Order: sequence, then structure tokens, then C-alpha cells
Amino acid sequence: MSYSRIRGTGGYLPEKILTNAELEKWVDTSDQWIVERTGIRTRHIAADDQDTCDLAEMAALRALESAKVSASELDFIVLGTTTPDRIHPSTACLLQARLGNHGAIAFDVQAVCSGFLYALSIADKFIKTGEVKRALVVGVDIYSRLVNWTDRNTCVLFGDGAGAVVLEASTTPGIMSTHLHADGAYKDMLTVPARVVQGRLKGEGFTKMQGNEVFKFAVNVLSEVVQEALTANQLDHNAIDWLVPHQANIRIISAAAKKLKLPMERVVVTVSEHGNTSAASIPLALDVAVRDGRIQRGQTLLLEAVGGGFTWGAILVKY
Ligand code: UT7
Repeated sequence: MSYSRIRGTGGYLPEKILTNAELEKWVDTSDQWIVERTGIRTRHIAADDQDTCDLAEMAALRALESAKVSASELDFIVLGTTTPDRIHPSTACLLQARLGNHGAIAFDVQAVCSGFLYALSIADKFIKTGEVKRALVVGVDIYSRLVNWTDRNTCVLFGDGAGAVVLEASTTPGIMSTHLHADGAYKDMLTVPARVVQGRLKGEGFTKMQGNEVFKFAVNVLSEVVQEALTANQLDHNAIDWLVPHQANIRIISAAAKKLKLPMERVVVTVSEHGNTSAASIPLALDVAVRDGRIQRGQTLLLEAVGGGFTWGAILVKY
């Protein structure tokens, strides 16, 4: 049987940086509250003329370059996003056209902040069956467009960005195991309830979140799923070189690290500069730590995320 291995990573953040000081002018908040309660200091915001596919393309090109793979060699493109450019075709197909690839399998995955983990897991399965040799896995969101900028409960949290990896068939792991879950019973805890009917938006097109409930839910399921991943591989926390978590809130990240008995020195944290970039947050954090030399070949990484749905999961990776 073949395994899948991460051959290259890439990330992209839009140029415009939005600080807490700027948010203080729009809503009743403070830099101190945002930093203490979330750990976020800045986030990047896409320009009005930038689309999700633009961000995805930048991250994808960087991942392909670092993998030394050309777009025509890809036979699979899977893209996690909650902010597709069109209802259809998928942003994965738009990206495929941009990259000049013809014929690869291409589709989007909608699992909100867990979107990258879902996409990575699907690509891994296709590679393991031998049907696919080289996959591009993208997590991208322009989540700022789903935020009501007068709602202080949500507008301070989110940012925009894209991250990507090139996954390739290998005789050794690679992706060690994937653990995905969802429970639609929690559909209203974090949602953008709108739909398009007869050319019009019906319902509210902004994020509605029961923040405190989400917080507690996230801490619970993440501690369960990281344990599930370790147990499945008969490993304990000492085997983990780096925790690469979804970047929603430093307090959620710290709680997961504490549960794993991992010091924060072994956790990749980008939430302070990126905010919550939804599906992009894990591949962006991964790319940052690969490029600054913290993550080295042969190390064991634990990726974990939770998002609307609710969806959650963990993936163990030998980098
Ligand atoms: O990717 C998954 C998606 N989302 C998340 O993971 C988010 C999970 N939730 C969280 O990160 C936290 O719940 C928040 C950061 C959203 C909120 O922090 P909290 O400690 O849970 O605060 P809270 O919701 O319990 O609110 C405490 C107080 C409230 O005021 P009162 O009712 O005590 O007077 C809020 O109105 O803080 C107030 N508050 C704010 N104050 C200043 C809420 N947002 C703000 C704000 N600035 N931006």
C-alpha cells in the first residue's frame, strides 16, 4: 500500500493589515479585551478586487514551487472553503483553470474551519488507493466578507488568507492517520444562515455565533480527538514535535496543548498576527513554521481543528 507525504507548502496573506486599534473606532471594544480574550493583535483583509481564487492561487503557486512540482503534474485538486467565488463551479475548478491544469479531479469541501483537515484527509485516501499520485490541497477563506462589522462578538475574530500543500504518493508515511467528526445537531451554534433563492439572498448573510458555547465545545472535542489520534497510533504526547492547531483563540490552543502536556514552545501559534482565517489557518501556520525552519523533515506533527457544522478532527503527520 502507498502512503501520502507532504512535499511542499505555501501560504498567502492579503496586504492590508487591520489592527485592534482600528476596530476600537468601529465597535465598543478595546485592544486589551481582544488580546486578553483571544490573543489576536492583527488580521489581514482581502482587497475589494481580490477573490478567494486569487488568494488560493498565490498559496498554490508557492506550494508547487516549494514541492518542485508543476501544475500539469497534479491529478487531484481539493479546496476547503466557506467563501467560494461562485455557487458553481467550485473554486477548485476556478483554481485549476488559473493554474493551467486540465483533467485532474477538482472539487471543494465545505467544513468551515475544519475544511483543510477534511480536504487533506480526502486527498490522503485517494493517494492511498493508488488512484492519485499528486494532490494539491488548499484551505482558503475571505471570511471577513461574512462578518458584520458592527457586531463586536464576531468582527474582532476573523481574517483572510490561503494555505496549500502538495501531497504525493510515497512508500513511507506521510500522513499517519486522520480522524474526522461532525455533529449537525450543533448547526445553530455557529452559522451563516442565508441562502440564495431566485437570485436573492434569503436570511442573514452574516456570521452568528454563540461564542462562549463554541469555546467550551471546542475545548472538549479537541481534547478528545487529539487523544483519539495518539491512541490510534499507540503514541503519547512525547512523540509530538509540533502541534499545529486551528488558530481561533489562544485560550483554546493553550487548553489543547495543556491537555496534551505539550509546552507552548512546541505549538505553532499565528493567531496573534493572522486572526482566525477559517480553512486557511492550519496550512498557513504549517507553512510559516516550515519556512522559518522550526518544522523539520522527519518530525511528527499533530494538526487539529474545529469549526461550524459542527465539524472537528485531527491528523497525525510525519513531515
Ligand atoms: O473556529 C471556530 C470558530 N470560533 C471560535 O472558535 C470562537 C470561540 N469563542 C471564543 O473565542 C470566545 O468565546 C470569544 C472570544 C468569542 C468571547 O470570549 P468569552 O470570554 O467567551 O466572552 P463572552 O462571550 O462570555 O463575553 C464576555 C463579555 C460580554 O459582556 P457582558 O455580557 O459580560 O457584559 C460580551 O458582551 O465580553 C463582551 N464582549 C466584548 N467586549 C469587548 C464580547 N465581545 C467583545 C469585544 N470587546 N470584542
